[in-house]
Amino acid sequence: MTPKKLAIVTYGCQMNKYDSERIAGLLQQAGYTLTADVRQAHLVLLNTCSVREKADQKFYSELGRLKRLKTRRPELLIGVCGCIPQRARDEILQRAPYVDLVFGTLNLSRVVELVRQVEETREPVLEITDEVLDDDLGVLPVARDSRVTAFVSVMQGCNKHCSFCVVPATRGPQVSRPLPVVLEEVRRLAEAGYREVTLLGQNVNAYGKDLRPRRVDFADLLAAVNAVDGIARIRFVTSHPLDFTPRLIAAMAELDKVCEYLHLPFQAGSNRILKLMRRGYTAEAYRELIAQIREAVPDIALSTDVIVGFPGETEEDFLETRRMLELVRFDSIFLFKYSPRPGTLAPQLPNPVPEAVKQRRFEGLLNMQKRIALAANLPYEGRTVEVLVEGPSKKDPAKLTGRTRTNKIVNFAGDARLIGELVPVRITRAGLYALEGELASASATLPLVEVAAS
Ligand code: SAH
Ligand code: F3S
Repeated sequence: MTPKKLAIVTYGCQMNKYDSERIAGLLQQAGYTLTADVRQAHLVLLNTCSVREKADQKFYSELGRLKRLKTRRPELLIGVCGCIPQRARDEILQRAPYVDLVFGTLNLSRVVELVRQVEETREPVLEITDEVLDDDLGVLPVARDSRVTAFVSVMQGCNKHCSFCVVPATRGPQVSRPLPVVLEEVRRLAEAGYREVTLLGQNVNAYGKDLRPRRVDFADLLAAVNAVDGIARIRFVTSHPLDFTPRLIAAMAELDKVCEYLHLPFQAGSNRILKLMRRGYTAEAYRELIAQIREAVPDIALSTDVIVGFPGETEEDFLETRRMLELVRFDSIFLFKYSPRPGTLAPQLPNPVPEAVKQRRFEGLLNMQKRIALAANLPYEGRTVEVLVEGPSKKDPAKLTGRTRTNKIVNFAGDARLIGELVPVRITRAGLYALEGELASASATLPLVEVAAS
């Protein structure tokens, strides 16, 4: 019997990507082989995103394409999982009755059983749980994309209720993974040769707050991961300014494997809008926090999320967002036009911003940020930096690509045997989105040793 083939199409954030790697790991263990080609698959799973309207639309058009494929190949099984079904439950089978399997974000550990059930009965299966299953928090097999750098979830869900955000509805309330479980997953990664982990959660700084009895926080978790042999670098996303404690700043400064890079969304520069967003901090408090972090970790690179066109955002409010970019000077930003989401509070607010205004503000910020990002990258020219080599460069397969500790992408010529290694690279040219460099001889970075006269 030829093995059955599975294709997973993933939309959205890193958490979804990680979930897809777990789903693939489980189904692989159950005998499926992975394929990137939807046309060859016996089972296609769409792991969906619901964060903005556009993500919903992309999913439904892909579903339409699969429907046509299924008309030609009726034995094809179509599954939908992730954020859209977790929020909208029955909607998918109503809109697309040809879908065979629907499950959510909180029960992916059951995927093998669910797939078997569909295969046996050939009847649609819909299963969505409201609470995180214990197995979902455990160490599952994971079919990872990279051999060098890996995601590790530290929590599910989010207890903040930002008025624009659908995530608490698509991923439920915050549930932290017990520290020993996270550590076990990291240890296994180290044994398998991984050098870098990115700890994932919607609000990682709140890690542990829901654990009873409460014994650990995110700083403790970082210290524990820092002690795992073999792991050379630790990153984490996403942070929320409100839960950023002095203890965490100190941990970032002290722990040698924690990289000098931080993603800290501010969303809007106007205090009036921040209040309407229910973010719980002011622009001044955000900048003060950044100042403290920069003082503790001087060379830290910063990125952020920004929303333009939130309901009621005036030209003056928008100028405050521009001012934030000018004052903080982020290395990179993720910029979004506000998109009303079902079940959130913001769509009920007065004075929605017209699309044309959103677009103008979006482009304005983007252009401004290009200038800032290039200025942040230029000082790298001539410097030699430590790069973790991740693989061949996508743009130029003759080259290798990797990242600095500050999360800058570096492309350079080198032997494929360097993949997975930490190497010194001299930066020859800084671009907007990446740096170009050349391998510096390893000895050049070693401190000169004075030979003592005997
Ligand atoms: N804490 C989460 C945030 C998830 S959403 C995390 O782990 O990243 C990612 C970003 O999308 C948010 O920070 C916000 O800037 C943006 N976003 C969320 N909801 C949005 C909406 N309704 N419209 C536009 N942008 C949105
Ligand atoms: Fe969303 Fe705010 Fe949580 S952006 S994921 S509700 S911190």
